[in-house]
Amino acid sequence: MTLAIVGAGQSSAEDLAACFTEAFDGYLAGSFAMTAQALPLRLARWGAELSMSRCAVVDGALAGFVFVGRHGRRRRVGAMGVCPAARGSGASRALLGTVVDEARAAGAQALELEVFAQNVPALKLYRSFGFVDGAPLWGFVREPAPVDATPATPRAMALAHAADWLQAHGPAQLPYQQGGESMRHVDAAATSWQLGTALIVFQASQQVGVTVLALVDADPAQRDARRLIDALLVAHPAQTVRVPQLMHDDIAARALREAGFTALPLHQIQMRLDLRGCPPANPA
Ligand SMILES: CC(C)(COP(=O)(O)OP(=O)(O)OC[C@H]1O[C@@H](n2cnc3c(N)ncnc32)[C@H](O)[C@@H]1OP(=O)(O)O)[C@@H](O)C(=O)NCCC(=O)NCCS
Repeated sequence: MTLAIVGAGQSSAEDLAACFTEAFDGYLAGSFAMTAQALPLRLARWGAELSMSRCAVVDGALAGFVFVGRHGRRRRVGAMGVCPAARGSGASRALLGTVVDEARAAGAQALELEVFAQNVPALKLYRSFGFVDGAPLWGFVREPAPVDATPATPRAMALAHAADWLQAHGPAQLPYQQGGESMRHVDAAATSWQLGTALIVFQASQQVGVTVLALVDADPAQRDARRLIDALLVAHPAQTVRVPQLMHDDIAARALREAGFTALPLHQIQMRLDLRGCPPANPA
């Protein structure tokens, strides 16, 4: 077997998308099909840049990828995957080792990512490089049910202003995909409301129901987040509301629980590798 780690910019969008789809086929959170057309927007939502991202080429064929971005003095893995035929081959270690080495060489302070707590191979891989578990990130669902609340009237906010608000007021531990940079790349049809110390961004459709893209309260008491949720439930009484696994206990998860949302069986955790003064990446 031959293995080479190369820049992701060397592969076509079609090949990257096909590799992504193969790696995430049967993924524990659901298969995830990617297209060449959707890839640039996804990379933008993850804050990843092709120039910093790397691919594994096994026996001459694209077999894995790690999409990486830079945020201030930190770097972040937006997504990583290896095709089933190349698993257990060392390709994932070579990919991750390369981005860790490159981040350290560039003077980055830390490398961060989110991973499903139930994703054993990924967790083992990250921990073996010294990544440390951080906060859990919960997802929720709420089926249509009566709301016992007098809703407040939130202020509608343009998405660009919502992104500015998140950058100005988002807590330090806010997951990247709820932050201002990522929010600049959400569907233009999304709606944003702001109330006191909190902000919500959501999408509603008759077919899919309501999806909450961001719910952030700068005050850990989360009273305004709760008022925003109640306003959302009153505005969409007949729809299921889904919240992806990005909700931090100190930012919005407690408000969602109090509003009668049910936590999803799978949850993510934030992980961080401190690069300041740590030893070389590839463990023995
Ligand atoms: C996560 C992924 C990149 C890891 O690549 P890989 O080639 O499978 O990694 P490895 O073979 O080095 O396995 C990593 C560790 O998990 C272990 N492992 C692999 N499969 C396992 C399983 N089903 N159950 C328990 N442990 C498992 C390996 O033994 C290894 O542990 P060790 O170093 O103690 O021996 C790959 O599995 C993948 O692409 N999965 C689908 C997409 C995905 O989950 N991406 C990550 C999202 S954050």
